[in-house]
Amino acid sequence: MSQLESEAMESEFGTVAGWTEEAVRALGPEYAVPAGCRGSGSEAALRWLADRMALTARSRVLDDGAGVGGPAGWLAAERGVRAVCAEPMPEGARAAHRLFGLPSVVAPAQHLPFAAASFDAAWCLGVLCTTSDKAGALAELHRVLRDGGRLGLLVFVADRPLPPPLPEGNEFPTEPELLDLLGAAGFRLAETATADLGDSAPEWSRRAGAVEDEIVRRHGDDPRWSEAQEQSGRVGRLLADGALRAWLGIAVEVARPA
Ligand SMILES: C[S@@+](CC[C@H](N)C(=O)[O-])C[C@H]1O[C@@H](n2cnc3c(N)ncnc32)[C@H](O)[C@@H]1O
Repeated sequence: MSQLESEAMESEFGTVAGWTEEAVRALGPEYAVPAGCRGSGSEAALRWLADRMALTARSRVLDDGAGVGGPAGWLAAERGVRAVCAEPMPEGARAAHRLFGLPSVVAPAQHLPFAAASFDAAWCLGVLCTTSDKAGALAELHRVLRDGGRLGLLVFVADRPLPPPLPEGNEFPTEPELLDLLGAAGFRLAETATADLGDSAPEWSRRAGAVEDEIVRRHGDDPRWSEAQEQSGRVGRLLADGALRAWLGIAVEVARPA
């Protein structure tokens, strides 16, 4: 294990990210966004966030923990905003660059290679629950956002004790814990909502499914595929049970007193 907090997550966000890029190349570019949204597989959630991040075509935007770049690709296509992608898994960062032509760096959220106040806005989707150092990630987001910059978040929050089996390496905060972390990092919460991750258009779901089928055809007998499927299946079951909730939030960077 090298970058992430479990080997299962490395399969899910590393190996499968590379396989996703390969499958999209085989099927066509129109498959890239639906297949590339790995935590935020809902266009309505992306729209909700983007509508509230005060974006213009000239905004400097960071996608923190961008995965293979589906959400950033969506933002470029739908809003004409080209985000910079940061992602710790090289396979993901490479895919974001190759599939969407976006600038992409290999970096964990806790060590972003950007100067202070480099961005007007950022989003961080399905990432805080994959790292135990949430405070470190939020501190970095605070540092790289300008004063008053907006942060869009998708976080899977635990509404009650989670029944096993749990996805390996994930740490889901409760909503009060998340709000405390945001406040301590210097963010003011502006608005929240709950995402329905099952509300995508049929064509979006069909394309995401076709990419998955192509990965199975090529790599379905690789144990890392089963491992990754088990991980995402566990998150799916917790969401379906109502133990986890897909929390959306807009937070505003507040200048810290000197
Ligand atoms: C559920 S995926 C979401 C990917 C993407 N944001 C999306 O919505 O499609 C979680 C992502 O967080 C990344 N990740 C895990 N630990 C991280 C960390 N410490 N800093 C930044 N990203 C991290 C994973 O590599 C993975 O790409």
